[in-house]
Amino acid sequence: MLLVARLLALLAFLECCTALVNRPNYAQIKLDTQTLQSSTIEKRDSLPAGYVAAPYYPTPKGGWVSNWTAAYEKAKVVVANMTLAEKVNLTTGTGELMGPCVGNTGSALRFGIPNLCLQDSALGVADTDNITAFPAGVTVGATWNKALAYARGYALGEEARGKGVNIQLGPVVGPIGRKPRGGRGWEGFGTDPVLQAIGASESIKGIQANGVIATIKHFIGNEQEAYRMDIIPHGLMRAYSSNIDDRTLHELYAWPFAEAIRSGVGAVMTSYNEVNGSAASQNSYMINGLLKDEMGFQGLVMTDWLAQIGGVSSALAGLDMAMPGDGDIPFLGLAYWAYELSTSILNGTVPVDRLNDMATRIVATWYQMGQDQDYPLPNFSANTADPTGLCYPAALFSPTCVTNEYVDVQADHAVVARNVSREAITMLKNVNNTLPLSTSASLKIFGTDAEANPNGVNSCNERACDEGTLGMGWGSGTANYPSFDAPIDAIKRKAANVTYYATDTFPSSATVVAGDIAIVFINSDSGENQDTVEGNDGDRSSSGLYAWHGGDALVEAAAAKYSTVVVVVHTVGPILVENWIALPSVKAVLFAYLPGQEAGDSLTDILFGDYSPSGHLPWSIPVAEDDYPASLSLLGFELFQVQDTYSEGLYIDYRYLNKNNISSRFPFGHGLSYTNFSLTSATITAVTPLSSLPPARSPKPTSTIPTYSTAIPPASEVAYPAGFNAIWRYLYPYLDDPSSITATGTFDYPTGYTNVSQPDPPAGGSQGGNPALWDTMYTFSVNVTNTGSYAGKQTVMLFVQYPSDSAWDTPIIQLRDFEKTDELAIGASETVSLSVTRKDLSIWDVVQQNWVIPVSSTEPFLFWIGSSSGNLTLACESLSGECTDGRASPVV
Ligand SMILES: *[C@@H]1O[C@H](CO)[C@@H](O)[C@H](O)[C@H]1NC(C)=O
Ligand SMILES: *[C@@H]1O[C@H](CO)[C@@H](O)[C@H](O)[C@H]1NC(C)=O
Ligand SMILES: *[C@@H]1O[C@H](CO)[C@@H](O)[C@H](O)[C@H]1NC(C)=O
Ligand SMILES: *[C@@H]1O[C@H](CO)[C@@H](O)[C@H](O)[C@H]1NC(C)=O
Ligand SMILES: *[C@@H]1O[C@H](CO)[C@@H](O)[C@H](O)[C@H]1NC(C)=O
Ligand SMILES: *[C@@H]1O[C@H](CO)[C@@H](O)[C@H](O)[C@H]1NC(C)=O
Ligand SMILES: *[C@@H]1O[C@H](CO)[C@@H](O)[C@H](O)[C@H]1NC(C)=O
Ligand SMILES: *[C@@H]1O[C@H](CO)[C@@H](O)[C@H](O)[C@H]1NC(C)=O
Ligand SMILES: *[C@@H]1O[C@H](CO)[C@@H](O)[C@H](O)[C@H]1NC(C)=O
Repeated sequence: MLLVARLLALLAFLECCTALVNRPNYAQIKLDTQTLQSSTIEKRDSLPAGYVAAPYYPTPKGGWVSNWTAAYEKAKVVVANMTLAEKVNLTTGTGELMGPCVGNTGSALRFGIPNLCLQDSALGVADTDNITAFPAGVTVGATWNKALAYARGYALGEEARGKGVNIQLGPVVGPIGRKPRGGRGWEGFGTDPVLQAIGASESIKGIQANGVIATIKHFIGNEQEAYRMDIIPHGLMRAYSSNIDDRTLHELYAWPFAEAIRSGVGAVMTSYNEVNGSAASQNSYMINGLLKDEMGFQGLVMTDWLAQIGGVSSALAGLDMAMPGDGDIPFLGLAYWAYELSTSILNGTVPVDRLNDMATRIVATWYQMGQDQDYPLPNFSANTADPTGLCYPAALFSPTCVTNEYVDVQADHAVVARNVSREAITMLKNVNNTLPLSTSASLKIFGTDAEANPNGVNSCNERACDEGTLGMGWGSGTANYPSFDAPIDAIKRKAANVTYYATDTFPSSATVVAGDIAIVFINSDSGENQDTVEGNDGDRSSSGLYAWHGGDALVEAAAAKYSTVVVVVHTVGPILVENWIALPSVKAVLFAYLPGQEAGDSLTDILFGDYSPSGHLPWSIPVAEDDYPASLSLLGFELFQVQDTYSEGLYIDYRYLNKNNISSRFPFGHGLSYTNFSLTSATITAVTPLSSLPPARSPKPTSTIPTYSTAIPPASEVAYPAGFNAIWRYLYPYLDDPSSITATGTFDYPTGYTNVSQPDPPAGGSQGGNPALWDTMYTFSVNVTNTGSYAGKQTVMLFVQYPSDSAWDTPIIQLRDFEKTDELAIGASETVSLSVTRKDLSIWDVVQQNWVIPVSSTEPFLFWIGSSSGNLTLACESLSGECTDGRASPVV
């Protein structure tokens, strides 16, 4: 009976829990990973000409960057003493639902290393209680406030540590938001590499200051949700291939990853898709070449969940950790690594060196963050909210554990969350100072987006529904709300005369009295591909860039009846506002993005004028979706493989619109205030003389790289220990009969495989790349004065324009730095400092494989300083060293 009950429970799990994790719906389940590995149905469509995933072997070992030397020294002592089983344990997750966290590695308790807990998400500790549900990445980006990005990262890290999370699965910079309809752009910081880079770096520094390992993801080219994974594991329709040319890769998509690595990030997660025809989880150029050699990454590289598609292949390509451990199909106890990695070491196919490097990278990262010192074990379970329950829910027989201790880790983080959500709010229109509102105004509120989800704020698993206020998108990048401050509740707390119509269809009962102000709440949602919400399969495939639930019509109806309408938009990305933006009664528009739990007070802080709005758009709002090229559209079904070719190159978002002289409705960086600011007394100071190439990097120091015996260890090291009580379906490094393992013939290594190290890439040299790339070339200062009649903060952005006689094709302007002032009282001023690095002025030369500055120009670099990409009149020049205002804007 018990067995039958367990089997039924397991079947129920297989049903229910496919929704819990990143996983496609499998059309069929095959039981034999060997068959899968040698499958002959691995068809794909040909890549377009010119896109190749060049082989890059072997994996560069970690340990040569001085900032990590002490950690590697400690790791070496440990790894040198480890058995094969212990090393393999660290590299492989124990299986889906086989531990408290969404990912759990094996342990090496002899050295004090527990099962490491890997847990989502980038906006809060997922699947648990008593945490803070912070605003999403896009909301952080819209604040343009580095200190707030750090503060939120710090609070996130404090909560992760408090729950016993070793490795937090965030922040996100891929997708970058290339496709406006792409499902997960909201997890990152905006559609620009520098905005992403700064958002991520500050978040990482904050998270890791708590000793939590941050994970930068998804590397790379994960710009749409549909078809991101193989539909049948390794089968007929493969994950799409993002085909990215080398220059675009360096200057756009890899840029924020390089900055994250420079900030010392401990982990990188690969993406589901292929890149130039090779799966991201085993793309040797991307992992061995770009990440670990050129960008000098010293930490560990993990797969996205169930993204591993091969064992030996991924090991050779530079993967260090397989998550959650299972092969293509979870719950079967089958893996590409675990016992298979032990096998591939014993049979001589995976070099012992490679496994040593995997283990060393993992242990060194653990030391680098200080996790050997009093680090808490997980005190929660991502699998249940009950106080006790199965330790390993996917096991046939699982012991029972204390699953949740309900540790409250929130501290005063609601304040940080509210500060971020408030500062993100972007005022796009405010005719005749309609905002701020008087608390005694007669307010008529429309739209279900104003109220908390009536079914319960966490009623939809991973927020996979769009009910009530949109506080976050859906999928693994979410967290449970501990509580939710809905806008309507906050408005009612603040204003005396409020009538709420909880409907998305304009109510015929709505009355109009002269002086009424209508506030209309609308939203647009997206998320991760495992759930389809209202016809949107992760991407905004069915809603397009329009408001959901007829929101645009609701605004139009309200505008027909009321003479003053304020529109509040909660959104994952740009929406088209053309249906109503110019209507005379639409007087004010606020974009509040995804505010997390503090949706209410953060909004009323702005609506009623306790604070002046200071958010700015982290992407452009186009007039029409087809203002962008077709290559930025979602791609549909192809029989074998979708080819997602980045033919627009560097030209996404404002870069494309600018190049093609297309006016946006609201430009990248736009955002109004209740006050006015002047920018005066700008200065430019040359710091480092320009040279075409950076000073040559130093050779990679090899003396600090740990070395170990490369002898194949005794097979007995992966024999099941005597009396070991194995849990069925749990992934172990052990083999039943390890001494029987022998090489069966010769292994067919991938094309280009070698165990001879590559020459040092010229663009490398330390974390992120050649340290000289971060030499400051120019600094700038500008005096910001509050010339209006309201206290407020101003963001100052700096865009570079390459010399007009440069032979390189470059976007007309590119964001390179920004700063936000403190709150300036009326009449107060602040001097803001900005800078550009060598990399900021460089182009990736695909022939030289290096960053070059176009120094032969006789025309200057122009550095545009302003509060939006659409409001640039002040520029400083490199050659004359002068800054002048009143210039014609470089872009329409
Ligand atoms: C490594 O550098 C980071 C900043 O980049 C710093 O916070 C950290 O303390 C350094 N760690 C060591 C071990 O030097
Ligand atoms: C193994 O560990 C011991 C004790 O920590 C240490 O003294 C020894 O150096 C280690 N072995 C190696 C080869 O590092
Ligand atoms: C490997 O990890 C598992 C727990 O995940 C543990 O039971 C086992 O003892 C570990 N093996 C070794 C050799 O430490
Ligand atoms: C070694 O083992 C791995 C894992 O089972 C397998 O993929 C590989 O083909 C084996 N190599 C040889 C030469 O037998
Ligand atoms: C938060 O923790 C408390 C104990 O401190 C517990 O009573 C409560 O149920 C937890 N909240 C949730 C939402 O589980
Ligand atoms: C702004 O207010 C002035 C004075 O009340 C009025 O004449 C004007 O029409 C208003 N403008 C708009 C666009 O509503
Ligand atoms: C609320 O506003 C309405 C106009 O819509 C007005 O008639 C009524 O007197 C106001 N009530 C209060 C309490 O101010
Ligand atoms: C343009 O920038 C100036 C100077 O910062 C500022 O006063 C003005 O409000 C800005 N205009 C817009 C539309 O952002
Ligand atoms: C900034 O400009 C204001 C207004 O012109 C002026 O009063 C103030 O002295 C300036 N501050 C600096 C640091 O230049």
